Order: sequence, then C-alpha cells, then structure tokens
Amino acid sequence: IKPDAVRKGYTESIFDKIQMEGFRIIARKDTLLTREQAEDFYGIHKGQPFFENLVNLMTSGPIVVAALEKSNAVELFRTLIGKTNPQEAAEGTIRRLYGETVSINAIHGSDSDENAQKEVRFFFSENEVSF
Ligand code: CMP
Repeated sequence: IKPDAVRKGYTESIFDKIQMEGFRIIARKDTLLTREQAEDFYGIHKGQPFFENLVNLMTSGPIVVAALEKSNAVELFRTLIGKTNPQEAAEGTIRRLYGETVSINAIHGSDSDENAQKEVRFFFSENEVSF
C-alpha cells in the first residue's frame, strides 16, 4: 500500500477487501523506503519520464507491505487492484476506489510469480516468510 493511501487512512479498508477476496496474509509490516530502496525496487522503470516522480511519491511517507497467498494469486490480485490508472480501473477495484491518478494509485502488486518472489524477499527475511 503506497504512501498516498496510507496517509488517507485506507490501509485497513484495503486489507479487509484483500482478505474478503480470499487472500491469506502471510506477513505484513509498516515501513518507510529510503530513496535508494525505492530506486532499487522500481529499477525496471529507471529512465522512464515518470521515474523521479515515482521515487518521490514512494518515499513521501510510510508504506505497508504484505506477502499474500492464494492460488493464482498474481493474476487474481492484479484483477482486484485494477488498471494502473485508477480512472481506467474497473468499478469496485482497489485503485478505482482509493487511487486518484496513474502516479497516486494507492497500491502496487507484483506482475509475475518471479517478481512476486523477488519483491517479497525485498521486504521480508527468510524467518518472516518461507516459500
Ligand atoms: P506500480 O504498479 O507501482 O508500478 C510502477 C508505477 O509507476 C505505477 O504503479 C504507477 O504508479 C507509476 N507510474 C507513473 N506514471 C506512469 C505511467 N505513465 N505508466 C506506468 N506507470 C506509471
């Protein structure tokens, strides 16, 4: 959950929705990204025109990270959060409900099983999450 949504107090509503959709929360924590961590996490977008703004937003306040479990989790979670741009996201999706713009879009979700593993490892150590 990105700083914009945390700041507006949407964290618990978002986690309720995630759990109601059948995702199990394996681990969860509040954290704050350093500039270096944000640049590393979004390294794939380095060089994009929105990169600087993305890093600024992602370091603007606390975030909440979670490792989730469900069969076909990546695809189903991406459906639950909706399109990157909240204005294009389907009715009832998390980004439609809690996001504003393509940059201020409330939440991130991994886009493949491989990236999910990497992203979980980015935030959690082996004694916090095992897979
Ligand atoms: P996220 O799923 O966290 O992955 C990369 C983020 O870059 C994306 O959500 C958006 O918040 C942000 N972003 C800002 N501008 C753009 C853009 N034009 N296209 C894609 N992503 C963008």
